Amino acid sequence: MKFGHFDDQSREYVITRPDTPLPWINYLGCQAYFGIISNTAGGYSFYRDARLRRLTRYRYNNVPMDFGGRYIYLRDDQSGQFWSPSWQPTRNDIEDYSCRHGMGYTTIGSSFGGIEAHTRYFVPLDETLEIWQLTITNRRTTRAQISSFASIEFCLWDAQDDATNFQRNFNTGQVEVENGVIYHKTEYRERRNHFAYFACSQPGAGFDTQREAFLGAYRGWDSPAAVEAGQLTNSIAHGWSPIGAHQVTLDLAPGETRQIVFVLGYHENPVDQKFDPPGSQTINKTSVKPIIAKYLDPAQADAAFGRLREYWNSLLGILQVDTPDIHTNRMVNIWNAYQCMATFNMSRSASLYESGIGRGLGFRDSNQDLLGFVHMVPARARERILDLASTQLPTGGAYHQYQPLTKRGNNDIGGGFNDDPHWLIIGVSTYLKETGDWSILDELVPYDNQPGSEATLYDHLQRSFHYTLERLGPHGLPLIGRADWNDCLNLNCFSDTPGQSFQTTTNKEGKVAESVFIAGLFVHSGQELAAIASHRGLHTEAAACLTEVKKMNQVVLEHGWDGEWYLRAYDDLGAKVGSNDNEEGKIFIESNGYCVLAGIGLDDGKAGKALAAVHDRLATRHGIVVQQPAFSTYYLNLGEISSYPPGYKENAGIFCHVNPWVMIGETRLGHGDQAHDYYSRINPSAREEISDLHRCEPYVYAQMIAGRDAPTFGEAKNSWLTGTAAWNYYAIVQWILGIRTTLDGLQIAPVIPKSWPGFAATRVFRGVTYNISIERRGEGNHISLLVDGTPIDGNIVPLPTGARKEVTVKGILS
Ligand code: BGC
Ligand code: NOJ
Repeated sequence: MKFGHFDDQSREYVITRPDTPLPWINYLGCQAYFGIISNTAGGYSFYRDARLRRLTRYRYNNVPMDFGGRYIYLRDDQSGQFWSPSWQPTRNDIEDYSCRHGMGYTTIGSSFGGIEAHTRYFVPLDETLEIWQLTITNRRTTRAQISSFASIEFCLWDAQDDATNFQRNFNTGQVEVENGVIYHKTEYRERRNHFAYFACSQPGAGFDTQREAFLGAYRGWDSPAAVEAGQLTNSIAHGWSPIGAHQVTLDLAPGETRQIVFVLGYHENPVDQKFDPPGSQTINKTSVKPIIAKYLDPAQADAAFGRLREYWNSLLGILQVDTPDIHTNRMVNIWNAYQCMATFNMSRSASLYESGIGRGLGFRDSNQDLLGFVHMVPARARERILDLASTQLPTGGAYHQYQPLTKRGNNDIGGGFNDDPHWLIIGVSTYLKETGDWSILDELVPYDNQPGSEATLYDHLQRSFHYTLERLGPHGLPLIGRADWNDCLNLNCFSDTPGQSFQTTTNKEGKVAESVFIAGLFVHSGQELAAIASHRGLHTEAAACLTEVKKMNQVVLEHGWDGEWYLRAYDDLGAKVGSNDNEEGKIFIESNGYCVLAGIGLDDGKAGKALAAVHDRLATRHGIVVQQPAFSTYYLNLGEISSYPPGYKENAGIFCHVNPWVMIGETRLGHGDQAHDYYSRINPSAREEISDLHRCEPYVYAQMIAGRDAPTFGEAKNSWLTGTAAWNYYAIVQWILGIRTTLDGLQIAPVIPKSWPGFAATRVFRGVTYNISIERRGEGNHISLLVDGTPIDGNIVPLPTGARKEVTVKGILS
């Protein structure tokens, strides 16, 4: 069952009924000002950091679900009836409902009693504000007297404090209203130099800023007393819960259309110019007023929207493909790339499942996110890499997360996840391959943000690599530390106390438990680092690095091989994890996927065997599960992984992030059909028809799909913010379609299904447009390339010399 459809032409997903199984959201903003918006106008906004600078309030896990939003009410002033064109919060029987989620904007609308209304929400480029354009048309044959109300509830900035510290918060709320603009200035009188504002393009018939005046006591957003009465009360908030609400009355002739623009924004003043007149307590509005005036003008709002469309056209234009599979095309050309922007911006901080207060930017997460983002805005990728590296510890280890606003490592979440440092090598290598910007390696970057500790980024990479070499276990495999990629495989935790965090509790010294996954990661990142070193002419360092890689490769083959597949780990007692000898958790996806991805066992048949075992034991029709058999009880020696009921999350759920490792592994074995089959099983567009089962948005990946041990097998959870976005993008583009960035140029090495006659693609790479067409003439994966009609040796297209900005690449597969 579906709840809408894709409109690929407009790059939109069109939801045609409001009662989707879960709120289906979109992101507004892609630079500094962000918002989440659901298909019924739920969601909230923030500036840079969802925890520390939240503008509007949202109630997570509320009943009914999805409350707090950008709510608009219309009221028929003749009958007194009122409704929301976005369905929520009033939930009337509206007609012709649609929600179009597009690239950085969402339009929601419907008809009710002959009044048609839709609102387009978006954040203009380079601004810290959002625009709501409400268009109302009278489809009746008679005149209509309509009041429109727009409302938001302010958050008192720190979302954590806002949701908990009521003894203080109920006293601090402050607003100003000037010329019809509502300014939210809680704590501006003391240490904040920022405020929010909510403005309306039409002369107002009233406003409210005190929540209870608008809603009435014991009422919710579904039936605000002031809307019911048809008149806002011009309330001024003192403490309690400041809101912003505007009323505009319209007298519409039959067929008449009117537009009202609302602007909600964030603004900062220099600390010494906060007040006007100086010495007063009144916000200095000199610099904000022109911005507000500009975007309240519908023509300016339309122009800003046009620029946003253009921006996305150019970003997505960097890579477009035309394959025989519509789901591949749609995801690569539109939605997967778009999701990669969201994961780059948010890491794992703010979604419908991430509350914006728990997690900041993850060290391993953000480095991996670059795989799907770097080609879009390389300059921002560069900045991100330097920010991440600045939080790296002098040991080469890492804080697991940092707060986006402060860019400082977050001690509460801890560190000691021994895979973390390697993702920096992979992030940097991804950046270098895309851009060829070698200067980044010479950037001076501090450790743990400590002035005086600066060293080159290249030095950071070396420390990342050596971090593992200095932490090898009894078998010569890397010690796992707190955990590796699998945050829930906590082999040194041994927690038996309820409520203890698996992520920060350590009861063992950590000198025994080893990770085969990190070994695979080390082999991969070591090869990348060696390639970087030798490109810089550091041949001795490159050779030293490769020696360690070879050693580790050997150790994996000796101590990490279980007979039919790669082991997962050794626990604190030195016992095998992920072995046929285990009763539960005999085989895991991560070590098998990653070791093959890294090339371990490609020559001696072990890689093929391992992925055959994955196929036989872990692959299901909804994707590949983390491990089998699922853990049926809590294992003290394994930690959080066994805390989940079977089939969910890391305990044998389909963790979509790691499925691409197997896809890439399959391409390394030359199995295009198998790789693309795995790709399709979790491709959200290919799952659209089962939206009632899948439940999450059909246009973006979810982190997890319930595995076959779960009663809800096939149900997705935790959509949007997941490494799944970047890794699937990378797997399909760089390994299945084989359009791969390398340090030396663009490599073309497709491993596609046998039934595909070929495909076409356009890729802008280092300023040059490559028009690629692949033709299949035989069943294999051997490729011969013609560049501008001339055959070349190998499969790496040399970078064009001189002023040539366009290249034609024809590939023959045989
Ligand atoms: C989840 C992991 C997540 C970790 C981060 C765990 O509860 O299962 O997926 O990475 O929390 O804090
Ligand atoms: C989600 C986390 O964001 C990611 O870093 C981790 O690798 C996976 N969970 C697996 O535990």
